[in-house]
Amino acid sequence: MDQYMRVTVIGTGYVGTVTGACLAFLGHRVTCVDTDQSKIERLRLGETPIYEPGLEKLIALAHERGGIDFQTDLAAPVRESDVIFIAVGTPPLPSGEANLGYLESAARGIGAAMDGDRFRVVVNKSTVPIGSGNLVEALVREGVLESHPDLAHTVRFGVASNPEFLREGSAIHDSLYPDRIVLGAEDAQAMGVLRALYRPLVEQKFVDPSFAPRPVDMPEVPLVTTTITSAEMIKYSANAFLAMKIGFANEISNICERVGAEVTEVMTGIGLDNRIGTAFLNAGLGWGGSCFGKDISSLMHTAGEYGYQARLLEASLAVNRLQRQIVIQKLQEKLYILKGRTITLLGLAFKPNTDDLRDAPSLQIADKLIQMGARVRAYDPIAMDACRTQNPGLRICYCNDAASAAEHADALVLVTEWPEFAGLDLPDLACRMNRAVLIDGRNLFDPERARQAGFEYSGIGRASRMPLVRAAR
Ligand SMILES: NC(=O)c1ccc[n+]([C@@H]2O[C@H](COP(=O)([O-])OP(=O)(O)OC[C@H]3O[C@@H](n4cnc5c(N)ncnc54)[C@H](O)[C@@H]3O)[C@@H](O)[C@H]2O)c1
Repeated sequence: MDQYMRVTVIGTGYVGTVTGACLAFLGHRVTCVDTDQSKIERLRLGETPIYEPGLEKLIALAHERGGIDFQTDLAAPVRESDVIFIAVGTPPLPSGEANLGYLESAARGIGAAMDGDRFRVVVNKSTVPIGSGNLVEALVREGVLESHPDLAHTVRFGVASNPEFLREGSAIHDSLYPDRIVLGAEDAQAMGVLRALYRPLVEQKFVDPSFAPRPVDMPEVPLVTTTITSAEMIKYSANAFLAMKIGFANEISNICERVGAEVTEVMTGIGLDNRIGTAFLNAGLGWGGSCFGKDISSLMHTAGEYGYQARLLEASLAVNRLQRQIVIQKLQEKLYILKGRTITLLGLAFKPNTDDLRDAPSLQIADKLIQMGARVRAYDPIAMDACRTQNPGLRICYCNDAASAAEHADALVLVTEWPEFAGLDLPDLACRMNRAVLIDGRNLFDPERARQAGFEYSGIGRASRMPLVRAAR
């Protein structure tokens, strides 16, 4: 197998575009395919349809290295490719199951395009319910049979699972310097192709881009090779665990608030234990995004199909649901009446450095406040256009900056911890407001500084500090 391969990536969303750009940056020849013509047109112009720091620069480098192009037609690139990645969306259905419609159409399309000229690997990068590897194999075969039954015995392919662990907002870094790569395949030839594909990444021999420098002491990337089912379980379990870890910090924060402890210090104290680790222990308004909720629901659904009730997963969802209502309680404690009040939300994206609003706590909070008769103003550095377009019925007054958003407001709610919010001029904001109430939903601000700036401050799980030494009588 040549060092560099021909690759097709199906789906140019957060995962597919980053995967395609990274593989072409490493030297492979990549075609990214999407059914959404407008996305493909923007990508051809060198623009990215999503906000992801560094992605446009990486695509520019990808053109110079292995080469990358963007198309709506699947057939030609599939015929020329050694490896075909499926990176389409798998959004949740009302039942909690994953909607596999996009995956099914992509897999059939691959089958319809295949010929007997070469061995190809079809790789599932979408997060899919356990057993989907088998489904993809069956669908590709059906695609072959439906389109050209004469080729049924000559088409050669293997199916693999290669779950994605990137975080939106740091997707380039996570893809070039991953903690691990997980490959699931039963077919030895398919596994061999994928090992070769990822060799440049595993060995970290590439020259790192200036906008995404390699971490100091970056080791070789561990490769976890396993079965398709275990690879699919690894992805779901990782997301379930991370969501549970945040949920744990949130649950403890609620107890901290009642007993007078400071959750940020408690989490530092436990996180320094190597068995626990400090990441994902920030208490706040609850997690959001396109993955945690849908993946936990899907895993619970699979467990249910096998007669198992996953109680820890159920609790994880329940704790998060309640956590999102805490803002409303805190506003009621400070303002009593919410009808007619003006509440300003700082941040709309489900987390900083992305424009992604899928399952964002901001939307639920805004909706609830509007239902309760409040006026909602908002400012987000990146996600306002997306919010306006995706939620035309949500009566939010969008503002150009934090200062104008705070004008005449009765309370400010920090929803997303964008780095620029940490440097806000708090005394200036407080002066602009009708009533200087600050609900710090991500524990971004120093409570003392906020109080000195004139705010009535309330964080998540943060007790007011008592003097350490009792004053002498
Ligand atoms: N977003 C993340 O942070 C993240 C991280 C890890 C894993 N994942 C998983 O990766 C998958 C993709 O997620 P995403 O956030 O990139 O989704 P996305 O919605 O941003 O992108 C999916 C893309 O697939 C395209 N598409 C749908 N059907 C198609 C078809 N038949 N042919 C070609 N294109 C098609 C859509 O037009 C869209 O552009 C999901 O399963 C998700 O759970 C996402």
